[in-house]
Amino acid sequence: MNIFFAASEVAPFIKTGGLADVAGSLPQALARQGHDVRVILPLYEGIGEDWRSQMTYLQCFHIHLAWRTPYCGIFELKKDGVTYYFVDNEYYFKRRDIYGHYDDAERFAFFCRAVIESPGHLGFCPDVIHCNDWQTALVPIYLLEERGNVPELANAKSVFTIHNIEYQGRYGRELLTDLFGLADGYFHEHMLSYYGDVNLMKGAIYAADYVTTVSPTYAAELRYSFYAHGLEGVIADNAHKLRGILNGIDTVRYDPWHDKGLTKLYNDRQLQGKKACKAALQRMAGLREAPHVPVVACVSRLVQHKGFDLVVDALHSIMDMDVQMVVLGTGSWNYEEAFRNAAKQYPGRFSAQIMYSDAFSTAIYGGADLFLMPSVAEPCGLSQMIAMRYGTLPVVRETGGLKDSVIPWNAGTGEGTGFTFANIDKNDLLCVLHQAVTLYHDDPKAWQTLQKNAMTADFSWDRSAGDYREIYGWITGK
Ligand code: GLC
Repeated sequence: MNIFFAASEVAPFIKTGGLADVAGSLPQALARQGHDVRVILPLYEGIGEDWRSQMTYLQCFHIHLAWRTPYCGIFELKKDGVTYYFVDNEYYFKRRDIYGHYDDAERFAFFCRAVIESPGHLGFCPDVIHCNDWQTALVPIYLLEERGNVPELANAKSVFTIHNIEYQGRYGRELLTDLFGLADGYFHEHMLSYYGDVNLMKGAIYAADYVTTVSPTYAAELRYSFYAHGLEGVIADNAHKLRGILNGIDTVRYDPWHDKGLTKLYNDRQLQGKKACKAALQRMAGLREAPHVPVVACVSRLVQHKGFDLVVDALHSIMDMDVQMVVLGTGSWNYEEAFRNAAKQYPGRFSAQIMYSDAFSTAIYGGADLFLMPSVAEPCGLSQMIAMRYGTLPVVRETGGLKDSVIPWNAGTGEGTGFTFANIDKNDLLCVLHQAVTLYHDDPKAWQTLQKNAMTADFSWDRSAGDYREIYGWITGK
């Protein structure tokens, strides 16, 4: 099967969040199953020379974007069985940040046109065009017409994956024809119109042949306005073609037995090395080197929907327990400030690392005992899975992918891969954290069983790639 995968960020080339990880590893898993998989993304300035030097220039053409005809160059790079196409246009993409520009609507509409027009130029006949989040939401809509115009697209079907419904791409109606180049007929209730505006994600949900999101629980949660941010009606209307598929992680990259970023390697049968990793983390983070005090960690963007109001509210009660805490990440000023203050108040016990650092996050996954992720909403979440791979037990709220990936500890049976609580309530968080800390101190054997369960849980992509293949099969009949 020929699969054309479009995303606005793809690891390892360019990354701001979990979307890039998914776009980096799902296509490879599909390629391993024998499909012809090609991934298309913008050639941003931030994509470094090390990658550029491996690219081959293929061709250029002019895009049809309403009355504009911007230049579009295509560069190619082959890696791990996948072909990557990079869309070149310096006016749109030679900028420091990849999102947040006044003309993002135009930049990503251009990208969507490039996705739709390139198969004709490249002689590639995709069976499925798989799009992700609002930046690629115009693709399923353009496909409705271009199937009839471009022979290479005649049999193409579209899949649209929602990684986060909070960002929908909502713009004034005047952009519909003048910028997106769509006829006025697309402005109706079962397509793009939304309270007088154009809503790209809404349009994609209607236009796509199939819609997925990144965990079964999030798919169910999207029926409620609390999670769907105004699109709950659209979700209900399209429930017949919506399914949640849990993301995987790159289990080769994230493996404590091979990760060179760790002070010492370990696995589920030889956990000894984790002790050295913990001591190293404590030194690195400026925490007291105390092997028997559990280290609770957060690695996250410090934003509201990740549950940091709960963490800040519960902070002093957490520190009343016999624990150390390390927080790594940047985000809202109020959280950053709260954590900086806590570091002053609890020297040697609380570490605030207000930055983004791959090296530090590896040290945390390896060295911490508990991984706290009390998200208000979490479509999937990848870091709790990474933490589990490293035997760092997650403490999570039962929402979205957190609920689908963490099995709560059962004192009776000893089963579980972590600790969970249901309500957005600091007392619930404290109660379950207290349970975890007590277990850590009182029952090292049970703790080790949980670690082993977590480390051997299957978070590989091979499982979910099969589910995507099944959907591709339903819509194409292949
Ligand atoms: C978004 C979601 C996150 C998910 C990721 C990959 O970043 O917020 O929960 O894991 O996309 O699908």
